[in-house]
Amino acid sequence: MGAGTRDITAAPVVHLITHPFVHDALATLRDASTPPDIFRRVTRRMSLLIAAEVLKEIRTVEGTVQTPLGPAYARRVDARVTLVPVLRAGLGMIEGVLELLPEARVGHIGLQRDESTAEALRYYLKLPPDIADDVVLVTDPMLATGGSALAAIELLREAGVRDIRFVCVVAAPEGIAAIERRFPDVPIYTPVVDRELNAQKFIVPGLGDFGDRLFGTA
Ligand code: PRP
Ligand code: URA
Repeated sequence: MGAGTRDITAAPVVHLITHPFVHDALATLRDASTPPDIFRRVTRRMSLLIAAEVLKEIRTVEGTVQTPLGPAYARRVDARVTLVPVLRAGLGMIEGVLELLPEARVGHIGLQRDESTAEALRYYLKLPPDIADDVVLVTDPMLATGGSALAAIELLREAGVRDIRFVCVVAAPEGIAAIERRFPDVPIYTPVVDRELNAQKFIVPGLGDFGDRLFGTA
């Protein structure tokens, strides 16, 4: 179960994505024989489905629209969404989400884990202006120790953002516990919570190094 004996999947911050297409995609991503082109395509499709779930309760306004046959009740999205991928692996999730939300703005946070300490070091930051009132989706496929997630959330909080939603592909109990402790108001959307971290702080069974598999740099 990891992170003690508590069932971390039941933590209030955790929103498990159960859609069968998302889990089918996850099986392909986990498969060590999946090449980068398929890995990218499946990540994109999966991210669109996950984003639809993350945003299913987004604010809407009611109105009417004229069909060729007369007026019809209409409900339109009434919130601005900004996507913030954590470089580099988080970039792989952006295209799919933009298919759903073509007008969304995109900020970037560059973080790299030190290979010996697993500490997240920042090398880039560019956020859109006036982001504080947006719904912000942080995309970072692997939530391992939580160091990268905490650093990204801190930067967004410094920019005044209140509604932050953390979106990943695989989460480890340690990463969830870290976010829950520090930012209990930030929900984590994930299809799965894996067993544990290994000595190198990789998620087990996980899927390996997401960035390397996405970009073919293994
Ligand atoms: C990976 C992953 C996360 C981070 C998760 O990035 O994409 O950002 O590790 O680990 P953590 O929860 O322990 O911080 P990495 O630093 O390998 O960089 P990359 O995306 O450029 O490959
Ligand atoms: N980053 C990855 O890409 N994979 C892991 O398992 C942990 C961190």
